[in-house]
Amino acid sequence: MVILTEGDHVWLETNTSGEFSAPIGAVVKQSSSGRILLLDDEGKEQWISASNINSVRPMHPTSVKGVDDMILIGDLNEAGILHNLLIRYRENVIYTYSGSILVALNPYQLLPFYTTEQINLYTNRRIGELPPHIFAIADNCYFNLRKNRKDQCCIISGESGAGKTESTKLMLQFLAAVSGQRLWIEQQILEATPILEAFGNAKTVKNDNSSRFGKYIEIYFSEDGIIVGAKVEQYLLEKSRVCLQALDERNYHIFYSMLMGMNTEQKKLLSLGTAHEYVYLTKGNCTSCDGHDDVKHYADNYSAMKILMFSDSEQWEINKLLAAILHLGNLHFQATVYNNLDCCELLESSHLSVATKLLEVNSLELEDAMTHRSILIRGECVSTPASKAQAAGSRDALVKGIYDHLFVWIVNKINTVINTVTVNNPGKACSSIGLLDIFGFENFNSNSFEQLCINFANEHLQQFFVSCIFKQEQEEYIQETIEWQHIEFTDNQKALDTLAVKPMSIISLIDEESKFPKGTDTTLLNKLNNHHSKSMIYIPPMSSHDTTFGITHFAGVVYYESKGFLEKNRDQLSSSIMQVVQSSKNKFLKQIFHTSFGSASGKPQNQRQICLEGSIKASGSNRQLPTLSRQFKQSLDNLMKILKACQPFFIRCIKPNEFKKPLLFDRELCIKQLRYSGMRETIRIRKSGYPIRFTFQDFMQQYKFVMRSALWQVKEENAHLCCKQIAESVIGTNGDWKIGRTKIFLKEKDHLSLELERDRILTAKALMIQKVMHGFKDRWNFLRQKGAACIIQSHWRGSQCRKKCQVMRQGFQRLQALFHSRKIVKEYEETRRRMTLFQAQCRGYLVRQNQSKRLEALTTIQAYARGMLIRKSYRRKKRDIQRCVGAQKLRFADQQHLGGLTQAKPEAEEEKSERLTRFAKLDMENERRQREEYLKKQKAKTEILNDINMVDNIFAFLPAVLAGQEGPGPQGFEDLEVKQEKLDEFDLDDMSLSSESDEEDDLAQYTFPKYAATYFQGSSTHTHIQRALRRPLLFHEDEVDVLASMAVWNIILRFMGDLPEPRTFAQTSEKHSNSLGKMSKVHLVTNQAVDEVQLTLKCLHTAACIVQSLYVRNMLNP
Ligand SMILES: Nc1ncnc2c1ncn2[C@@H]1O[C@H](COP(=O)(O)OP(=O)(O)O)[C@@H](O)[C@H]1O
Ligand SMILES: [Mg+2]
Repeated sequence: MVILTEGDHVWLETNTSGEFSAPIGAVVKQSSSGRILLLDDEGKEQWISASNINSVRPMHPTSVKGVDDMILIGDLNEAGILHNLLIRYRENVIYTYSGSILVALNPYQLLPFYTTEQINLYTNRRIGELPPHIFAIADNCYFNLRKNRKDQCCIISGESGAGKTESTKLMLQFLAAVSGQRLWIEQQILEATPILEAFGNAKTVKNDNSSRFGKYIEIYFSEDGIIVGAKVEQYLLEKSRVCLQALDERNYHIFYSMLMGMNTEQKKLLSLGTAHEYVYLTKGNCTSCDGHDDVKHYADNYSAMKILMFSDSEQWEINKLLAAILHLGNLHFQATVYNNLDCCELLESSHLSVATKLLEVNSLELEDAMTHRSILIRGECVSTPASKAQAAGSRDALVKGIYDHLFVWIVNKINTVINTVTVNNPGKACSSIGLLDIFGFENFNSNSFEQLCINFANEHLQQFFVSCIFKQEQEEYIQETIEWQHIEFTDNQKALDTLAVKPMSIISLIDEESKFPKGTDTTLLNKLNNHHSKSMIYIPPMSSHDTTFGITHFAGVVYYESKGFLEKNRDQLSSSIMQVVQSSKNKFLKQIFHTSFGSASGKPQNQRQICLEGSIKASGSNRQLPTLSRQFKQSLDNLMKILKACQPFFIRCIKPNEFKKPLLFDRELCIKQLRYSGMRETIRIRKSGYPIRFTFQDFMQQYKFVMRSALWQVKEENAHLCCKQIAESVIGTNGDWKIGRTKIFLKEKDHLSLELERDRILTAKALMIQKVMHGFKDRWNFLRQKGAACIIQSHWRGSQCRKKCQVMRQGFQRLQALFHSRKIVKEYEETRRRMTLFQAQCRGYLVRQNQSKRLEALTTIQAYARGMLIRKSYRRKKRDIQRCVGAQKLRFADQQHLGGLTQAKPEAEEEKSERLTRFAKLDMENERRQREEYLKKQKAKTEILNDINMVDNIFAFLPAVLAGQEGPGPQGFEDLEVKQEKLDEFDLDDMSLSSESDEEDDLAQYTFPKYAATYFQGSSTHTHIQRALRRPLLFHEDEVDVLASMAVWNIILRFMGDLPEPRTFAQTSEKHSNSLGKMSKVHLVTNQAVDEVQLTLKCLHTAACIVQSLYVRNMLNP
């Protein structure tokens, strides 16, 4: 007996003894006096008494926490598997492995598992490395595809609403992401899904977005692992849904989306209203679907169609057909009796005219085709009136035919866009990953022909699964003489044989009966009973009135209602209806009926088309059309062939509850699904078996890297030894692996460790290669960069040196200029000094000479003057004496004349004085006359003289002043070189003294102010000013003279201290240095200096001349 304490986990046997019950997991909450209080997985508490303690058994620790891979589970039973799924589901962990098979629970909520980060996380990881995920499966498909260059397929199975379609979309999303090119084709492949869902999905009670068709998407990859195309294969669209829906179910999404999303104008053109107005959309009494936004879906579908190159006219034609279907659905028939025959007539309605307008068919022809039936009687086609039900049936058949063909056309259209690879390059082999999203096992209260087909497809898939997982495996163990404990599993091969494989199988009987014109559902049922009543698979009807038969499928018994089987299987439109279609002017309608026969399902449909056309042309022909079951069987056989050629992966989707609610776990529903999917057996066989196997060569090839390189070249006969060695070194001698005759067998976990070891070694080697390559590349790069850096450096240094050199050169040039300027200044100063000295000496010499000459002249003048004065006084005295003597003589004579009279003496005296006065007057008269004559002479002479000549002439009496300066004068003294006029010699003694004073009076008018007023330019006066002149004082014609005179004035001002000394060249040039280039500045400074020096010299020279002339003039005019 087990002793349980609080917190222990246990299994509790449930009281319910239903088909799908299993012990439930529980935890001990309390334990007292032999009783224990348990809290079970469903949250119920119950006391277990000591007497019932046997219904409780301890739980394996692996089941307590839950495991990622159910192979590791300790309690390998339904309860253990279920509990494991449950505890994970509660934590929103929806994925669990069973070996390499993924079990996926539908979370019914959006989980953050499908982000780009998750895609990146699962990229290039082996199964088992990370927690279970659908991306891990997708990645392994992709990895195997690239590694083994073998096509991969993933079979996603499960009940309707279990999450198959969502899983397919996630797989596609991952593959598009890892293909990594973000190409247009990837986008187109992804955009095919919304179109297919719009036309092929509908709301059912089980799933709001239930796919009503099966599909197999093959994605083609280039050698580089890039998606290059895809192909969609569709299976068995549930076309009856177009006309009839169960309660709470809807028609295909596209009808509701169209009515909600289409604009009013378009709707008006198609005479469309709301969904409630159409019989075909209200059969299920449900026109809306929670969480399905019809308006948005219409827009999405429209854009997806654009991406998939559906032209606007094609889209409009599709809308026209959809509208026509809705209008046809609103046609009603009234039963009548004609000639004792049940017949009917079409009730008048605007819908007929709209429908015929849209289909572009003759309304009378259409009406006739619906209200009459064509029957083949002895090879002849006979038309009979149809009953109301038959007319409605014909109408529905036409509608279903149109929709079915439209769907096939859409799939074909998508394929022409996305499947460019196999169409354009038929011979080119492309690796592919196939994703099979096909309807799950169905068992309703009333099952019909469609359910038989669906369940038949599921039997096929189950057989494929069983053969992959169990049969092949066990057979191989036996062949390879591996020690192996046989596992019982449910093999559905018998069911498959009974259904389709054997000659008189159920499908072939249905097919055969459909071909008989007299064949009915009853005759079919009888045949089935006759052939299969003893079969374990077939369950005959309970009574002769019962029309249902049962089939024991791998997932349980399903009872089928045989009524309508043959008609559905024949899947034919009456020839009159076909005639209407053929006579239509609607090209698109004709096109879809024409092309859909050559669709995905391949040849059979082509044959069907040929036969169909044949039957229209010659309806009496015996040729039979392939039935729906035959087509379906054929396409399934093709699919199986494809799947068998691939390396398969399995995803088992499980629906946790029927209410589409998150975190709600219906144990019974889950047990049912687990059992049907053979999960327990799968786990068991995976656990005890060796799912991974390699031929020795393959194994060697794959894992030789884990050994030393010496072992790489192993001969074939030693291959198994080598494999053994590899396995021993990595897994260990005690590891659970087996060596067969040609193969080595491994457990998944050991395979994982081998893979990891191989990865590690390859990674290390790759790293080594990368290192070397990187080193080489980096070294090469480094050397290149170093070379480039050296060139840059040398260029940089060169430019820096050139810059420095330039600066230094400029410096030197400045220095040179400074030096030159200083030298010139020095020379100039020296010259000036010498000049000054020379001038001083000249002046001194001249002054001295002048002085001595003046002195000499003065002495001469003095001598002459004195002589003249003495002579004058002598002559005067002499004259006076002579006069006195004469007067005396006359006085004496008078006296004598008068004789001694006393009075005579004063009279003599008086006469004497009178005579003297007269003589004096005569003298004065003579003198005046002489002077006047002299002046007249002088005036005549001086009339033509200019001012200087005049002055010179005035002083021309001083010839001795210039007497010593014979020959041409020095430069600048040319103006002084005037022709010496030969002066008339005269005797000073002859000149009267009074004339001197007259001349002095005349010279007085040549004053400096007068001269200044006369000759100075502008407003300049004779007064001394202390500022620079704006223009020279005197007028000069030559510009240089103007500048020179200004410069002289400046020099004079500077000399007088009225103007500051000029700045040095360096100082002046500095001002311009900022704006000029260094070299040009140096040139400028040098040129300026030279110019200035030259100018200064010229000025000095001019100044010297002027000073000289002034001096001379001053000398002349003191
Ligand atoms: N992985 C998932 N995450 C979130 N919701 C999911 C997931 N798988 C399925 N579902 C939900 O379940 C519904 C039915 O899934 P679906 O794939 O259409 O089922 P099936 O194709 O098997 O009939 C989806 O509409 C979605 O709401
Ligand atoms: Mg689906």
